[in-house]
Order: sequence, then C-alpha cells, then structure tokens
Amino acid sequence: MNIVIFGAGAIGSLLGALLAKKNKIVFVGRTPHITCIQKKGITIKGKTHLSFKIPAVESAMDIPFVADLFILTVKSYDTETASKEILPYINDKTIVLSIQNGLDNIEKMQHSIQKNHILAGITMHGTIFSKPGEIIHTGKGETILGELDGSQSQRLKNLVEVFNEARIKTQISQDIIKEIWIKAIINSSINPLTAFFGCKNGYLLENPLLERITELVCKESISIASSQGISLSPLEIIEKTKEVIRNTAMNHSSMLQSIQQGKKTEINAINGKLVKIGTHHKIDTTLNRILTELITRLSPS
Ligand SMILES: NC(=O)c1ccc[n+]([C@@H]2O[C@H](COP(=O)([O-])OP(=O)(O)OC[C@H]3O[C@@H](n4cnc5c(N)ncnc54)[C@H](OP(=O)(O)O)[C@@H]3O)[C@@H](O)[C@H]2O)c1
Repeated sequence: MNIVIFGAGAIGSLLGALLAKKNKIVFVGRTPHITCIQKKGITIKGKTHLSFKIPAVESAMDIPFVADLFILTVKSYDTETASKEILPYINDKTIVLSIQNGLDNIEKMQHSIQKNHILAGITMHGTIFSKPGEIIHTGKGETILGELDGSQSQRLKNLVEVFNEARIKTQISQDIIKEIWIKAIINSSINPLTAFFGCKNGYLLENPLLERITELVCKESISIASSQGISLSPLEIIEKTKEVIRNTAMNHSSMLQSIQQGKKTEINAINGKLVKIGTHHKIDTTLNRILTELITRLSPS
C-alpha cells in the first residue's frame, strides 16, 4: 500500500516506521524532524527498536506517489489545516484515516474532505518525541479502526490486515465513534488534572482528593456523552480510567508534556468540546469548564 503519514511526530513516526516493512511510506512533517530523517533516517527506541532510512518531506506537494492511504496524526488543533492540504491528493479510492485524540477531528476533516473517504481510529500505543529523528515507544497497546457508519467494509478489513501484518495489533470496531468518546472521557480527567498539578499519571490515584475529582470528571463527561446517544456505565468507565492510570503510572501525560514544552494543548478538542456539547444540551459541565479554563491559562492558544 502507498501510505502517507501526515503529521509525522511522535505517534505518526512509530506507525510509519512499523508499516514501512511491507508498504511504501512517506512521512510528511516539519523541520527539524524531517530534515534529520532525510539525513540519518528514523530511529525508534524503547519498546520497539528500529533505525532505517525512510522518505520524508515537508509538504504534501512533495509526496512521491499516488497515495492509497493518508494516516492523519497531527494534533487536533491542526486537523482542519492538514485536511485542506491533503484534499488535492485524494482520488476516488483514497482513504484518510484519523488516528488522533479529541472529539472534533472527524467534524473538522469533513470541512474539506468528503465523508466517504474518512475512516477513524484510536491507538493505545504511547510514544514520546525525544529529539528530531528519534521517537521513544513508551507503551504498547491495541489499535482500533472503524468505518464512520459502523460497516465492516472490505477496505476496512484490508486496512486492519495491513496494520496487523506490520505488528500493530489492530481490531475492527463497529462503533468507532463510541471508542473515540471512551478515550476522550478517559483523557478528560487524566490529561488536564496531571497537566495542572504537574504530576505523573499515577499520582491521581495516590492523592484521595485527586482520585475523587477524577471520578467526578468521568461522571460528568459520561452524562455529556449520553446526550449524543452514547450510553456508558459510569462504574465501568471509572474503572477503565483507573486501569489506564495504573498502567501509565510513571508517565507524564501528553497535555503535561505540551505545557512543559510551552506548546498548545488539545484541551479544546477534549474538555472544551465536552463543554460545548453539554451546554447545548443543558447538561451540567462545571468540572470540564473549570479544567478547560485552568489549562487554557497555562498554555498558548
Ligand atoms: N503520542 C502518543 O503517544 C499518542 C498516542 C495516541 C494518540 N495520540 C494522538 O495523536 C495525535 C498526534 O499526537 P503526537 O503526540 O504524535 O503529536 P506530535 O508529536 O505533535 O506530532 C504531530 C506532528 O505533525 C506536525 N504537523 C502539524 N501540522 C502539520 C502539517 N500541516 N504538515 C506537516 N506536519 C504537520 C507537527 O509539527 P509542529 O508541532 O511543528 O506543528 C508535529 O510534528 C494527537 O491527537 C494525540 O492526542 C498520540
């Protein structure tokens, strides 16, 4: 398959490096990561060890082939611009797969890309951008892909096969939107709380007050999800959130890392979007509103 990793940063570089064994890949990203890859290749350390040369460019205009698949791995605040840049390179059969966090990526993509080209996914892999040309694979996990309408299309089955052949353990979901919501709800507590308190994920369960806030944020986010027809058990989601916290206890969340690096965060695509939806449906959004406000004051917008 001819695959473009659009937004080759932490997670995109890992997926691209793994997929490169059996597919034609090009990374589209930013300097200095791209210039470093052009000179020395990509290096993955941590749970995966890889180091090899791979084509990398800084603009969609320089993609050296007709793409079958774009994997969109930019941060949610760049989704709209990235989608516009991809648009001229989409033909009848091109798939654009979002593997991102946040509740508004699909909506933003659809401002320029037709819905029938879009597939969605989430991944539980963890990666850190350590320096240009080098990514640390911090945690292995499952990847889930789905058609927006839940159908088990042939193109989806093919894609899942391509991912599994690359040793990216991947499953089909017949309700990928629900999976995106579950991940966003989990992130709606872990990300802003760790970012605001400047703590590792595990501290949320060591401090009883933070543990209680984590539970309350989950409950509020679940009630907002219900307004979208997404019915989730608070007990199950709170337990799932605590499981993620335990499994990543020593990690700094992506939102904390962004703040430490003086970068924008994905707060508007997670808690901010929950506030918008909740407010529209007259559901209490107090906690998500407070977290959005706190993080917005800490990071550039
Ligand atoms: N990292 C993880 O472990 C992980 C795991 C699961 C899901 N995710 C999700 O995956 C998405 C990406 O996360 P990430 O951590 O990989 O972010 P990241 O390291 O910031 O990677 C995104 C890259 O895309 C580049 N970019 C943005 N717009 C571009 C454009 N128009 N053309 C070319 N390059 C562009 C960014 O460059 P600049 O920053 O210089 O603009 C950055 O290098 C997020 O939604 C995140 O929540 C991440």
